[in-house]
Amino acid sequence: MTTLEGQGIRLRPVAPNDLEGIFAWYNDPEIVAPYDRFAVDTFDDLARSVDGAVRDPTSLAPRFVVETLAPVEVVGVVGHYRAHPVLEYVDVWYVLGKREVRGRGFGREAVRLLVEHLFATETVERVGATCDVENVPSVRLLEGLRFRREGTLRSALFHHGRWHDIHVYGLTRSERTAGPPSG
Ligand SMILES: CC(C)(COP(=O)(O)OP(=O)(O)OC[C@H]1O[C@@H](n2cnc3c(N)ncnc32)[C@H](O)[C@@H]1OP(=O)(O)O)[C@@H](O)C(=O)NCCC(=O)NCCS
Repeated sequence: MTTLEGQGIRLRPVAPNDLEGIFAWYNDPEIVAPYDRFAVDTFDDLARSVDGAVRDPTSLAPRFVVETLAPVEVVGVVGHYRAHPVLEYVDVWYVLGKREVRGRGFGREAVRLLVEHLFATETVERVGATCDVENVPSVRLLEGLRFRREGTLRSALFHHGRWHDIHVYGLTRSERTAGPPSG
């Protein structure tokens, strides 16, 4: 199984004993809030979706855990999925569930590793991401990796009692090969 080594973190496949911690994050509105929809699945749904993701390119299940190197600790999850039934690109998503470690560069390093992995292993020319226009850390994370803002979907996601506008970001392979994104 693929493990992607970075300087402060690694991405490794989700193991059965990671599921309890991930499930707790999924069920904590403070982790998901305030920029995303909050949906509670059962533990079995989560376990099934992680299992099935290998065979399903559209799956939103976590594909890797984000693990700090020192101390070795699971602090988040990332995923990627075919976001459109016809168009050929992959979107990435990312959450640091352990909030204490946010703001230390781990999120950007995790997404950088994931993006490099996708360009190395998938026949896509574009990797995308979407994020709430108010999600400043996510916007800055993506722009620091040279993702270009391609547009803004108006009133595209309902959460926390109102409709939210969503930025669409993309990074093409040629932009990527112009030089590695900063980490
Ligand atoms: C988005 C997230 C993954 C970012 O990870 P992180 O490790 O905290 O971010 P990093 O330390 O790598 O920083 C990335 C950029 O965001 C900025 N940033 C981080 N936290 C910030 C904050 N609270 N306010 C403003 N900017 C912030 C950093 O300064 C950096 O930008 P810069 O290089 O231009 O200065 C993390 O905040 C998170 O898990 N959020 C909740 C889930 C979520 O929103 N996921 C994304 C959905 S689209």
